[in-house]
Amino acid sequence: MLGRRATRQWRATGGEVAVLDDLSSGLPMPEEATLSVNGDIRDADTLTALLNDFNPAAILHLAAVHHIPTCEIRRAHCLDVNVVGTERLLAAAEHAGIGRVVIASSGAVYAWQESPLSELDSPLAPCDNYALSKYSNEQQLKFWSSRGDGVRSGRVARIFNAIGHDDPNGHLIPEILAQLRGATDGKVRLGNLSPRRDYLHADDIARGLIAMVNDPRRDVPFDTLNLCSGIEHSVQQLVLQLGQILGQRVEVEVDPARVRRVDRPSQLGNPARTRAILGWQPQLGFEEALRQVVFPDHAQ
Ligand SMILES: NC(=O)c1ccc[n+]([C@@H]2O[C@H](COP(=O)([O-])OP(=O)(O)OC[C@H]3O[C@@H](n4cnc5c(N)ncnc54)[C@H](O)[C@@H]3O)[C@@H](O)[C@H]2O)c1
Repeated sequence: MLGRRATRQWRATGGEVAVLDDLSSGLPMPEEATLSVNGDIRDADTLTALLNDFNPAAILHLAAVHHIPTCEIRRAHCLDVNVVGTERLLAAAEHAGIGRVVIASSGAVYAWQESPLSELDSPLAPCDNYALSKYSNEQQLKFWSSRGDGVRSGRVARIFNAIGHDDPNGHLIPEILAQLRGATDGKVRLGNLSPRRDYLHADDIARGLIAMVNDPRRDVPFDTLNLCSGIEHSVQQLVLQLGQILGQRVEVEVDPARVRRVDRPSQLGNPARTRAILGWQPQLGFEEALRQVVFPDHAQ
């Protein structure tokens, strides 16, 4: 979902993009790619051949098993793709002499806290297998960057909750929309209603990722930046906003069978450092972002 957008945006500025994806998430290759390879991130030969053929200036590494329940059920597979896959990529990047690698991490690496999460001073404590793999990716990139004798620079993007109409891993918004569209009594039944998340449209995240690829600070070998909105909304607010967009009055009810025993009450990011360093800021507010998810054909 994010890679398609980053590809489209990069090509729109006149750049070239080679995409490597095994298409396991179910979305097709982005049409705009200059070169597409259907391959596995863990396959060293595929990576080497692609880097030799294309000779890129930078790598934006997004390939991962990202569906969190799958990461719990298939723990070794998740770590294999996310952690070993990242090692294979960094080793290939090292041999190909790539100067800049940007890796997608997650707001889930932070410890639970109520106040906004900041890159320099908020503690980290991944609490599921997916977050553990992303925490590992951050450390892997840090090592890679430090071993480059000043010619390599790594950037970690701590992405919060991306939303997009084509999200292959999203369940909450499609579930709410399906219930809203099928509701005869105006009721939506969900599990935990109070958890608050920092939602951002996938187009804005992609813009942020590109800004990180272009980060002009060549003398900073490694840095970590949040990609988030700095505003959080509860599940209940999300439902009501979606109802409003669809022109429906909605009542939200708790379905005890869907209540998760463990759920972070809040996951709010602080985007201040990213804004100050990269000049990036989201272009779509919460309502407009959701409107584009509900009516993607109306998006600008
Ligand atoms: N969407 C979010 O809210 C969010 C939040 C935090 C971090 N991230 C991270 O951003 C990145 C992109 O996420 P997305 O939302 O675009 O998800 P996505 O599932 O659309 O993208 C991941 C891509 O990786 C590919 N892939 C999976 N295993 C592979 C393998 N073995 N070899 C090659 N390709 C493989 C999938 O086919 C998919 O196209 C991921 O690393 C994800 O963990 C996303």
